[in-house]
Amino acid sequence: MNIIEKIDQTREFLSSKTGVSPEIGLILGSGLGSLADEIEDAVKIEYKDIPHFPVSTVEGHEGALVFGTLKGKAVMAMKGRFHYYEGYDLESVTFPVRVMKSLGVKKIVVTNAAGGSNMDFVPGDLMLIEDHINFSLRNPLIGINYDELGNRFPDMSRAYDRDMMQIAKSVAESQGTDLKSGVYAWVTGPSYETPAEVRMLQTLGVDAVGMSTVPEVIVANHGGIRVLGISCITNMASGILDKPLDHSEVIETSEIAREKFVALVLGILERI
Ligand code: 6GU
Repeated sequence: MNIIEKIDQTREFLSSKTGVSPEIGLILGSGLGSLADEIEDAVKIEYKDIPHFPVSTVEGHEGALVFGTLKGKAVMAMKGRFHYYEGYDLESVTFPVRVMKSLGVKKIVVTNAAGGSNMDFVPGDLMLIEDHINFSLRNPLIGINYDELGNRFPDMSRAYDRDMMQIAKSVAESQGTDLKSGVYAWVTGPSYETPAEVRMLQTLGVDAVGMSTVPEVIVANHGGIRVLGISCITNMASGILDKPLDHSEVIETSEIAREKFVALVLGILERI
């Protein structure tokens, strides 16, 4: 079965369950899934019950789509995402974005937990993703291009929507949140970087590093979906502080930043 047929079947399945036509997609990263609990008239569908969806395996990542309304906007949220390091191919990792597009989503807010490489950052900071570097050198669009999904050679010069970035900055300011901004680098993981790798990333202009987001953003751009990206800086990257990295710190810090994060995204939803 080709990807077009898979997308169609998944869309049919989801629209038969929900009846909502989502306008905004939310991809919620590690420890940030609680935003989905705010969704009104929620219809929750586990990934394992959705045709052609892979199943998430990481601790701290739930696996469900939640459809409903947030701040008056029809949304669909991914509570937990698929990572390349889990062993899925990039077509599977990005399949939910294809489905979002097919269901009518025009804008995506994509979030993640990331390590800070910018020395001005502290754990718990939120960072607006202004641009990214694909350090995996892998691309979800390699293979046959289906013109109905997008161009063979998609533009990435405005991968993150300027209007939504402006709105995010202004909402953060009105909420007294010190929203940082910078460049996010995608490395495959699952091992964290070495200190030498982090020094290299710093030299190359990277502010935060993580194991997700870039594949979804590439596919969103391919499909003409506008993207807003927010990283939660859950820890400093390797070698910056004199201590080892631990996934439990990622989850703990994202929980500390949760209130600020939820308020920011809700504020943004009101205005996009
Ligand atoms: Cl330090 N590195 C990567 N690659 N991903 C992360 C992280 C660091 N902290 C949270 N996610």
